[in-house]
Amino acid sequence: MRVVEVSEYGGPEVLRMARRPEPEAGDVPGRVRVRLKAAGVTVADLRIRAGLYVHETGDLRPPFVLGTDFAGRLLDPAPGPEGGLPAGTRVAGFRPWLQELSGEGTYAEVIQVDPAWLAPVPDDVDFTAAASVPLAAVTARQALDRLRLPAGSTLLVTGASGVVGRFAVQFAAAAGLEVVAVSYEGDESELKVLGAKHCVTRGEPAEVLTRVLDHAPERVHAVFDGALTGPPMLAAVKDGGVFLALAPDRAPAAEREIRVETALATPDARALKEILQQVADRQLITRVADVMPLEEAAEAHRRAESGHRPGRIILMI
Ligand SMILES: NC(=O)c1ccc[n+]([C@@H]2O[C@H](COP(=O)([O-])OP(=O)(O)OC[C@H]3O[C@@H](n4cnc5c(N)ncnc54)[C@H](OP(=O)(O)O)[C@@H]3O)[C@@H](O)[C@H]2O)c1
Repeated sequence: MRVVEVSEYGGPEVLRMARRPEPEAGDVPGRVRVRLKAAGVTVADLRIRAGLYVHETGDLRPPFVLGTDFAGRLLDPAPGPEGGLPAGTRVAGFRPWLQELSGEGTYAEVIQVDPAWLAPVPDDVDFTAAASVPLAAVTARQALDRLRLPAGSTLLVTGASGVVGRFAVQFAAAAGLEVVAVSYEGDESELKVLGAKHCVTRGEPAEVLTRVLDHAPERVHAVFDGALTGPPMLAAVKDGGVFLALAPDRAPAAEREIRVETALATPDARALKEILQQVADRQLITRVADVMPLEEAAEAHRRAESGHRPGRIILMI
């Protein structure tokens, strides 16, 4: 089967097409095979390829196959609640690449996955849209759950124009939070449609802080730090509030009774099933920035690194 391998650590040019044996049914006990139609290009993919996670990847060295988000069709029946999912079901999910460290990813025609990672994709959601959802939406959902904010609380979302940030804005607004979104210039009207009450333009942390305080002079109850701004944004939080970091090295030291949480997304089939149904029902909006063939993975990484993209870049397989 065709895969894209990271041949060595470096720029996008280190991604190369390769052939690997297609997995057989039952190769790995407890795993089921999915024939992929689409895979998402995530920020973690870019960083792993560049060698920025060598501490986390330990003994795993190139060549390996990247990729977290996927959508495709089940080749084997998947056991699970309510009788599981039959072969042929359209499914999506994300594989926890950095936790597994198997060197197998979703830039491949067929993958073997834990059935507990899989959610069925509703008929109204195409494979590219489905592949844009799992990691980002589950991250936003789990992170907001950790904040435990009552309705009416104020939430600052940095990186609100990003893939995770857009989901965070929508989930927070649906939960009755007042969202202040730090947006890419020009995205304000879209973020307001998604549920943001106020938008401030991104910039240096001190500038952003000033703009946020214009809208929320008493500061906010919580920050969802989708842009990994880190410690400088702690000043936006009220005493006793909460700060949610999406990477451990961007979590500020706690002060003024502020609770600092770090979220690490874990696959959650039940949450993902609900989320995909919300996408099908048009209650939740997902955006795909580009759709490119698997063979153009290097160009997809170049685009992802070239600056603002309004949504996930998807590889068609
Ligand atoms: N902990 C977890 O389990 C987990 C899971 C998924 C993702 N993540 C992390 O969460 C972050 C967001 O992921 P994503 O998929 O949403 O990425 P993304 O689509 O690239 O979004 C990142 C957003 O942050 C903004 N941003 C980046 N640097 C900035 C800066 N210096 N100042 C202001 N804004 C800045 C970007 O602005 P522009 O649009 O203007 O470029 C973009 O809107 C990534 O760092 C990712 O690694 C963590």
